[in-house]
Amino acid sequence: MTPTKGKLYGLGIGPGDPELLTLKAHRILTQVPVIAYPTLENGKALARAIVASYIRPSQIEIPMPLPFSVERSSQPYYDIGAEKIAAHLSAGRDVAVLCEGEPMLYGTFMYLFNRLADRFDTEVIPGISSTLASAAMLGAPITYRNDVLSIMPATLDADTLRARLTGIDAAVIIKLGRHFAKVRDILAELGLLERALYIERATQPNQRIVPITTVDPTEVPYWSLILIPSQTQPQ
Ligand SMILES: C[S@@+](CC[C@H](N)C(=O)[O-])C[C@H]1O[C@@H](n2cnc3c(N)ncnc32)[C@H](O)[C@@H]1O
Repeated sequence: MTPTKGKLYGLGIGPGDPELLTLKAHRILTQVPVIAYPTLENGKALARAIVASYIRPSQIEIPMPLPFSVERSSQPYYDIGAEKIAAHLSAGRDVAVLCEGEPMLYGTFMYLFNRLADRFDTEVIPGISSTLASAAMLGAPITYRNDVLSIMPATLDADTLRARLTGIDAAVIIKLGRHFAKVRDILAELGLLERALYIERATQPNQRIVPITTVDPTEVPYWSLILIPSQTQPQ
């Protein structure tokens, strides 16, 4: 007899502090027989590290190596990861894919969702996005009243970034890494550098907040972002 298919969960696990998991994410994480998570090519797995204390030895783990920096060539990696997950789902085992922050916002889970959600029962559990957690850590209200928040990746080319940042009310710029200097120079050009706040590894034990002008561009990790809060003065 064909087993009942398992359920796929996209689990938002928040920006890094294990206490920032939702109760729902925690319940599912501790109940599923299989968990999957992205790993860097060097084997490091931030998503797993965030929830390490909740994982049981009896749970089957599927590490999925992904080339974080070269997005265009990542398709075969997602294909392989999706098929490994599909094998467990087809055998009737529920699988939770760990996703740092919010799964549906620049999340690696979205690529697996696109490959699997039409074949398997799927539920996405929202998580606290690093973009919003960073505002809390920086003590910076992002938007008031009619302000518009723009979220954009630093990987855009300079002309596009300049155009997207011109006239913003408030913005979050993610995926900094080696793109930091380009972003910093554009912010200076647009008169936004004084408003810009920089944070690394928000809510994690090694969180770092320093003035953006003191940041060494060669030392900027992938897990960092720039927040430009609203200038609106609330009454
Ligand atoms: C692929 S996106 C994933 C975003 C994630 N889904 C979220 O909602 O936070 C990765 C980018 O998010 C930002 N990021 C994720 N976690 C972070 C953290 N704890 N502190 C600062 N930035 C973070 C970084 O800019 C990083 O390059």
